[in-house]
Amino acid sequence: MARNTLSLLLVALLTALFAVARGSALPAAENVQRRDENLPARVPYVFPAPGTDTIADAIRARRGNGTLLALDGALLNAPLVAQGWNQLFTVIRENLTIPGEMRELFDYRSSEPQHSTRRRTNGTSLVPHALHADLPFTRGQHEPVGRTEGLTTRQLRVLRFTPAGELSLADQKILGNSLAAAVAFTDAITESVRVPDRVYNNLARFLSPKQMVEAVSTAGSYAFVSRFTVALNVDGRMNEAVPVPV
Ligand SMILES: *[C@@H]1O[C@H](CO)[C@@H](O)[C@H](O)[C@H]1NC(C)=O
Ligand SMILES: *[C@@H]1O[C@H](CO)[C@@H](O)[C@H](O)[C@H]1NC(C)=O
Ligand SMILES: *[C@@H]1O[C@H](CO)[C@@H](O)[C@H](O)[C@H]1NC(C)=O
Repeated sequence: MARNTLSLLLVALLTALFAVARGSALPAAENVQRRDENLPARVPYVFPAPGTDTIADAIRARRGNGTLLALDGALLNAPLVAQGWNQLFTVIRENLTIPGEMRELFDYRSSEPQHSTRRRTNGTSLVPHALHADLPFTRGQHEPVGRTEGLTTRQLRVLRFTPAGELSLADQKILGNSLAAAVAFTDAITESVRVPDRVYNNLARFLSPKQMVEAVSTAGSYAFVSRFTVALNVDGRMNEAVPVPV
């Protein structure tokens, strides 16, 4: 009996010690708070402390420095949406079979909300790109990833500055056939929802049916990201045309 009580005490003591040790390994409070620009969104941010919320912790595990982003704080108002989002984007980021450079192209090209709308509401097609030109070229979170996956600076500039649906022959040459097909495909999804047969079939020459499903899912997911971040003004950036991390 006494021995059992002693063991229980010992277990409790060890558990407490372990919790303390674990606590000290967590990021310092100020690091946990430092994320993005910390500008308000249209909803309050929800940032559960580490170890208090399994969904937030799962998202944290996927983020650099184990720190939630403003995007996550907005998502966590609806925890099951945040959980589903995290699962979807884990697959999109880590488990596709389309080429990495094409995945980054879909991301880079369809994350830009002003891309289509500004162009439609303003007579000149160069307007959105004039806006982009004011922004530091390297600001988008995914631009360095795009480079890692093999996109060149010239290709990134084509992706950044060519108005939707207006790839020139020179642009196509810089991108190569499969990436040029992917740009036309993303532009159709982002601009008008409807993808003409010609555009679909041109990309399907390079991808299997499984990969076409992945391609649609990737372009569609990043269109979702831009709708989400812009409609909720996440990190006060609804007027920026910079890709947002997911
Ligand atoms: C981690 O934090 C350091 C220091 O604040 C920062 O320089 C670095 O960019 C962060 N890494 C990621 C992946 O966010
Ligand atoms: C997804 O990719 C990650 C990273 O490569 C890998 O660890 C994981 O096992 C993959 N998941 C599935 C279900 O294939
Ligand atoms: C188009 O955008 C430019 C630059 O933002 C602006 O000066 C101009 O007034 C706009 N034109 C129309 C028709 O909205």
